[in-house]
Amino acid sequence: MAEKATPSYEIIDHEFDVVVVGAGGAGLRAGFGCAEKGLNTAFISKVFPTRSHTVAAQGGISAALGNMGEDSWQFHMYDTVKGSDWLGDQDAIEYMCREAIPAIIELEHYGVPFSRTAAGKIYQRAFGGMTTHFGKGTAQRTCAAADRTGHAILHTLYTQALKHHAEFFIEYFALDLIMSEEGECLGVMAWDLDTGTLHRFRAHQTILATGGYGRAYFSCTSAHTCTGDGGAMVLRAGIPLQDMEFTQFHPTGIYGAGCLITEGVRGEGGYLTNSEGERFMERYAPSAKDLASRDVVSRSMTMEIREGRGVGEGADHIHLNLMHLDADIIHSRLPGIAESARIFAGVDVTKQPIPVLPTVHYNMGGIQTNYKTEVVNPTKKDPNAVVPGLMAIGEAACVSVHGANRLGSNSLLDLVVFGRAAANRCAEIVTPSAPHKPFKGGDDGSKAIERLDHFRHAKGSTRTAELRMEMQKTMQNHAAVFRTSKSLDEGVVKINEVYQGKADLGVTDRSMIFNTDLVETLELDNLLNQAVVSMHSAANREESRGAHAHEDFPDRNDEKWMKHTITHLDVPTGKTKIEYRPVIMKTLTDEIEPIPPKKRVY
Ligand code: FUM
Repeated sequence: MAEKATPSYEIIDHEFDVVVVGAGGAGLRAGFGCAEKGLNTAFISKVFPTRSHTVAAQGGISAALGNMGEDSWQFHMYDTVKGSDWLGDQDAIEYMCREAIPAIIELEHYGVPFSRTAAGKIYQRAFGGMTTHFGKGTAQRTCAAADRTGHAILHTLYTQALKHHAEFFIEYFALDLIMSEEGECLGVMAWDLDTGTLHRFRAHQTILATGGYGRAYFSCTSAHTCTGDGGAMVLRAGIPLQDMEFTQFHPTGIYGAGCLITEGVRGEGGYLTNSEGERFMERYAPSAKDLASRDVVSRSMTMEIREGRGVGEGADHIHLNLMHLDADIIHSRLPGIAESARIFAGVDVTKQPIPVLPTVHYNMGGIQTNYKTEVVNPTKKDPNAVVPGLMAIGEAACVSVHGANRLGSNSLLDLVVFGRAAANRCAEIVTPSAPHKPFKGGDDGSKAIERLDHFRHAKGSTRTAELRMEMQKTMQNHAAVFRTSKSLDEGVVKINEVYQGKADLGVTDRSMIFNTDLVETLELDNLLNQAVVSMHSAANREESRGAHAHEDFPDRNDEKWMKHTITHLDVPTGKTKIEYRPVIMKTLTDEIEPIPPKKRVY
């Protein structure tokens, strides 16, 4: 069906029970789950589903299966709470760690080709911060398909979605949510990049699974598509984002290229050295050493470099050694990283160390949800008020299970556990084929079109790539592994200026068909919203917790700061309003007591 909404564009209308924006691991798990439960489900994805960023996840997915030694979901929960530096919500963490076990068994049954033990069980490797007996032993908890676990999961979930007849709208760029006057989400507007047509999707539930905004930084392991489109749509709808100051730096990005070298390398016995050949992690984390949590390892590497013990001509990076590992282990468990090291660093990993540097990898912050994946928009009357019709999952969301620092391999887990939770929730609250509500005075998709038109006809003198570079350099330099009041205050001034630079953007291509200039401009606008919110949130938090290492406030301050940051953005002006909410310390069941805060050492 086609109808005219504005004089200049024809709109093609669609109606579904559920629309999932994004077809990576979280989106596919949610969407096929909805389709399986009899809901008419569509995916909107700006890339072909199996090219979504989940494909790049290497080392594995955590679950206390106990295939390689004793383990329990309670140990996993303890590690995750400690890894989060006590900023994670304990109800959601309990839910994730408990549900991990059935969620992985399901993946196995769907056909994920996990690596196997000699006994035929799913192979599990050690990962950072994963212990047994509440911090005492080392857990082998990360289920792996060699070092291509994300690839294996993504392809399996895509075939499940095809099997259950979900509908795909591929190379459709989601523009904005359609919100009613009462604040209910009625669907989403999207642009078909191939034909240049505009599409209005009505849905009883819209699930945002759009991934993180790693591309706000100059050097990151994230794909170029990781532009936080869902987070920006939420901000434009007047809904705040949570904990945006917490950005994870993965210790081992390839120096100069940024590509990921999995933590699984250290899980299989690899280790870091400085210019003196010293295994320096023994000094910083005497017990866990190279398998301390990522924030700890990234800070230790940065300190070695600062103190003049970096390697290479500029003494500006660190070596990752795996020359001592058996060639069979490299061949069977780490084939992908051997190839990446050869291509991107010119290194033969059996003979030379890999040059590595902490690189932006993951956004702990995002769209606030409860553990049922419903988006929360706190009001004075109800701090847990949900936005009807809107859910968020995966890296786009902040449930919050990762708090101030995510443990490696808890990300793929977050995708499948909360993707599954979203499908379960949709099955509870959506009546299949129920009629859709009329737009009745609220937005009918026109706001999305106005924004598209604004950028399509932008005639300023600044090129999108120039402004993007300014944003990326500002974030890289001012919201880095270590922050100070000075670096953050300067960062706020600079990022505000970059934000205002939007007004002078110029787009040269006016076409609606595969106009990459316009797509990149819309993506930059999305990134900028989140860059501003991140920098402002970081400047406000006067303590060090997890990935937010503030040198003027080097200690964690639970009394004042054990709370989530909730940041609103006034999109036209770029001004932010920051509020806080308490961390949820209650567990869901009496099978585990809440884990009280204590000093975090590895
Ligand atoms: O190092 C890695 O394989 C990354 C895993 C993760 O971020 O969970």
